Amino acid sequence: MAPTVPALKIRDLEIWPPLVLAPMSGVTNRTMRALYKPFGLGLTVTEFVSSNALKYGSRRTMEMIDQHGVEQPVSTQLWGDDPATMAAAAKVVRECGADVVDINFGCPAPKVTKTNGGSACLRDPDLCEAIMRAVVAAVDCPVTMKMRLGWSESDLAYMDVARRAQDAGVQAVTLHARTAKQFYRGNADWEHIARLKSAIDIPVIGNGDLDDAHLAMRRMRESGVDAIMLGRATLGNPWLISQIRDVMEGREARPMPSQADRLRFAIEHYRAMLRDLGEKRAVPQMRKHVALYLKGMPGAAVLRERIMHLDRADDAIAVIEETIVKLESEAMVAA
Ligand SMILES: Cc1cc2nc3c(=O)[nH]c(=O)nc-3n(C[C@H](O)[C@H](O)[C@H](O)COP(=O)(O)O)c2cc1C
Repeated sequence: MAPTVPALKIRDLEIWPPLVLAPMSGVTNRTMRALYKPFGLGLTVTEFVSSNALKYGSRRTMEMIDQHGVEQPVSTQLWGDDPATMAAAAKVVRECGADVVDINFGCPAPKVTKTNGGSACLRDPDLCEAIMRAVVAAVDCPVTMKMRLGWSESDLAYMDVARRAQDAGVQAVTLHARTAKQFYRGNADWEHIARLKSAIDIPVIGNGDLDDAHLAMRRMRESGVDAIMLGRATLGNPWLISQIRDVMEGREARPMPSQADRLRFAIEHYRAMLRDLGEKRAVPQMRKHVALYLKGMPGAAVLRERIMHLDRADDAIAVIEETIVKLESEAMVAA
C-alpha cells in the first residue's frame, strides 16, 4: 500500500508515521509511552520537566528524563523562563538520551504561568527567542517548540514566535490552536494552524481535538501540516493511533477491538505500571486510565466508582476481569 502522507522530517530524523503522542504531564511516563508506541506512533514526547527542578536532579525528575532503553526517537520537553537554566537543562536531558529537546511555550496551568513559564512566555516574544537561541546553542540534537496561539485572543503571538523559532534554528513547531486563557474551552482553531503552515518553512505539527481517524486526516490535509499530534483522545483508546496509521499507510482504518479485548489491554497497562512504579504509585494513576478504558461500556459509571475506592491493584484488576467475563457471556447470549 502506498502511504497517503510523507514522513515527518525533523532535521536528520525521519519520523514515520507523522503521528506524535502529545506530552501529557502525569500521563506520558515511560511505561505509557512504551505501551502506546507500538500502536503506530512515530514520535513520543515526555511529560514536561521543569528546567529549574533539573538543577537539583531529584530522583523523580531524573526518572522522567532517563531515556535510556526506551522507544526511539523520543523527545524530552522542558519548561522554564530563564535562557541559561533552559540551556543547562537541555544539555542534561540530551545526555540522558533525548533524541529531540522540546521547549514548552504552551502550558496554561497557573503553577507554571505564575513563574512566567509555559504559555506565559508567549507574552514576551523576545524572551521566547532568547530561550530558543540558548537551547539550540546548547545541544547537538534537533530542538523543537510547542506553543498555544498566544496568551489571549487579543494577544496572538504564535506567528511572531514561530518566525523567531525558525530564525533561531528550531527544527519544528507544534501548535495547539487554543489560547492560554481558553485552557481547554471552545474548539482548537485549525485555521490558525493552516496559516502558520503556509507562513514558515520548518515543519509544523498540528494539535487539538483530533479524536477520529477521518477527522484527523482531513485536518492534516486541509491545513497542510507535516504531522499531527494526538493527546486526550488516545487516553483509554490507543486503537485510535492504529486507525490513523492505517489510513496514513493507505489502508482502511481497522475496526475497534471488542470491549472485552479493550479491557484486557487495560489489565496489561495496569500490570506494566505496577511493574515499573510499584503499587503505591500505580494504583492512583491507573484509576483515571481504567475510567477511560471503561468509557462507553455498559455500567461504566458504577464500575468507575468501585475502582475509585480500591487501594489494592489486585482488587481493581479483579473488577476488570469480572467485567470481561460479564461482557463475554452477554455477547454469547446475544449471538
Ligand atoms: C493531562 C494533560 C497533561 C498535559 N501536559 C502537557 C505537558 O506536559 N506539556 C505540553 O506541552 N502539553 C501538555 N498538555 C497539552 C497536550 O499536549 C495537548 O496540547 C492538548 O491536550 C491538546 O491536544 P488534544 O486535544 O489532542 O488533547 C497536557 C494535556 C493534558 C490533558
